[in-house]
Amino acid sequence: MKLILLGAPGAGKGTQADILSKKLGISTISTGNILRAAMKNGTPVGLRAKEYVESGKLVPDEVVIGIVQERLAEKDCAGGYILDGMPRTIPQAEALERGGIDIDCALSIEVEDAVIVERMSGRRTCPDCGASFHIKANPPKAEGICDNCGAALTIRRDDAPETVRDRLATYHAETEPLKAFYAERGKLKTVDNQPTIEATTAEIEKALGL
Ligand code: AP5
Ligand code: MG
Repeated sequence: MKLILLGAPGAGKGTQADILSKKLGISTISTGNILRAAMKNGTPVGLRAKEYVESGKLVPDEVVIGIVQERLAEKDCAGGYILDGMPRTIPQAEALERGGIDIDCALSIEVEDAVIVERMSGRRTCPDCGASFHIKANPPKAEGICDNCGAALTIRRDDAPETVRDRLATYHAETEPLKAFYAERGKLKTVDNQPTIEATTAEIEKALGL
């Protein structure tokens, strides 16, 4: 299974990618997590990405395309993968096609903007493994501690309400056109956001025939 998860910031891509990758035994490639790790480690890519990520703008296509091409060439991707947060622009999708990457499905999680702004205020993120929690919808077992790796959870800088609004505007202008791109290729499936994470997973599994 080669799956792309599309959807606005906060749609639940990371959360659902985690669940599906455990269930299907395939890796998730999250460009957001890769960029945040690079920023934390102060690598050249991280230094270049920082101002874009923190202000809610997209990192230049060539940076992201390079990262993903390298990552997809690794052994664990041979049997399939989930792309979370990439492609984000038509040029990124075209680069995947040019690289011979033939995906099975681009699945878009549809959520209204108002729900997103409210939801992001409750998100808590693991700075080490990238896992996403929510103070109400998906609380960690111990308050403030990552269930997966035990690190102290943080609030992402780009989850400030004004930055969330900028990220939503960027999504509608640059990423949403990918739905038409994949629909033209017969690869698009859409799922409506559900009130709980579990119910959204059930809709995704139905859409994917799992
Ligand atoms: P990235 O990290 O990809 O952020 P994003 O797309 O803005 O999405 P998020 O990670 O914020 O949300 P999500 O959909 O994963 O939701 P989550 O599962 O956490 O990118 C960050 C930045 O990096 C970009 O702005 C850009 O600068 C750069 N970047 C990354 N990729 C790039 C690319 N390809 N090109 C250029 N630049 C790139 O869920 C959100 C919250 O909601 C959680 O708290 C969760 O617990 C909760 N939740 C989820 N589902 C439900 C539900 N059904 N009901 C209730 N709560 C729910
Ligand atoms: Mg995410």
